Amino acid sequence: MQIYLDSCATTAPRQEVVKLLQENLTLGWGNPSSLHSWGERATFALEKARWQVASLINAPSVDNIIFTSGGTEADNLAIFGIASGYDTPQHIITTTVEHSAIALPCTMLEKQGWQISRLPVNREGKVNPKDLEKAIQTNTVLVSIIYGQSEVGTIQPISELAKISKKYQVLFHTDAVQTAGRLTLDVEALGVDLLSLSSHKIYGIQGAGALYLRKGVEIKPLWGGGGQEKGLRSGTQALGAIASFGLAAQLAQKELESESLRLRELRDYLFRLSAQCPYLTITGDTLHRLPHHGSFIINHPSPNITGRRIVRELNFAGIGISAGSACNSGKTQPSSSLLAMGYSPEEAIKGIRISLDRNTTKEDIEWTLTALNQILQRI
Ligand SMILES: Cc1ncc(COP(=O)(O)O)c(C=O)c1O
Repeated sequence: MQIYLDSCATTAPRQEVVKLLQENLTLGWGNPSSLHSWGERATFALEKARWQVASLINAPSVDNIIFTSGGTEADNLAIFGIASGYDTPQHIITTTVEHSAIALPCTMLEKQGWQISRLPVNREGKVNPKDLEKAIQTNTVLVSIIYGQSEVGTIQPISELAKISKKYQVLFHTDAVQTAGRLTLDVEALGVDLLSLSSHKIYGIQGAGALYLRKGVEIKPLWGGGGQEKGLRSGTQALGAIASFGLAAQLAQKELESESLRLRELRDYLFRLSAQCPYLTITGDTLHRLPHHGSFIINHPSPNITGRRIVRELNFAGIGISAGSACNSGKTQPSSSLLAMGYSPEEAIKGIRISLDRNTTKEDIEWTLTALNQILQRI
């Protein structure tokens, strides 16, 4: 038996997506920049996908969508794209619980003299909007705050945060890679200026993503080339991946309401069952939380337990989950997000994440928790 519970890492592409990709690779493989019929067909597929992705987030126009290779590139384009518009280093506000695709570009800018403020979070991983207001300076040019946190699932109050940013005329970006397809995303209602998306988190394939850019927001490209994507992302578009992204976005939108409700119920079931295991403590906000996301700290007395070890043990049982901690030079490092939330280093190496998807059943959850209980009693 194989149970995949790591949808926050990636999702299995939908059958419809695989079919479309095959069609694209055999029949629709033209270059959208070409002037002939092959190019025209490719342009049609590209622009259809742009419309589908724009619809998922209620973008006012297809012109707001810049296709990228994924969420990481969309995040980098947002941070460096804004920063490159300034001749001298300015100030950016972010948080202590960002994905590395935001955290590292900010650190890179810091090394170039930029000032980076990282807002603290509470024990549930949530930012206090008052802290954002206090952190804004006259030279603040961008605020970037993750929407649904990938490791602990906490949802930030994005519209409230974006409103504060707007009050001070500072651009607001959110990384919505984990949120898309799970919660309704409406860029207009949220009031964000930039927003990142990734296809492989919503049952598309790896290799496509997008940056939403509100009309009037100016960014600089990260590299030069043929001027595709309105000159902001040169390079021939990965048409198959992008067309698949479009279809995945359309289907995600269609199923959003029923699927997020179903996932929420399953996740709450996971939390109820976990209460029977003495070693599992939920991390993140239980109320304001991504519907498909469960995360825990293993509060086991054994000093040898780490999240990574539990991932390996469960893998022997045919179950795929993930750990928040990383491995550096053979040594397990505590999760920076859990540290930021106030957990000790000993606790922060014991985080695990169980993320659900459209194929997850109640039985998968029961089986996983039974296996997890057995492992924790054995070691
Ligand atoms: C919140 C968040 N942002 C960005 C990324 C990077 O996206 P991609 O894998 O498409 O580069 C991820 C991937 O896990 C993520 O969870």
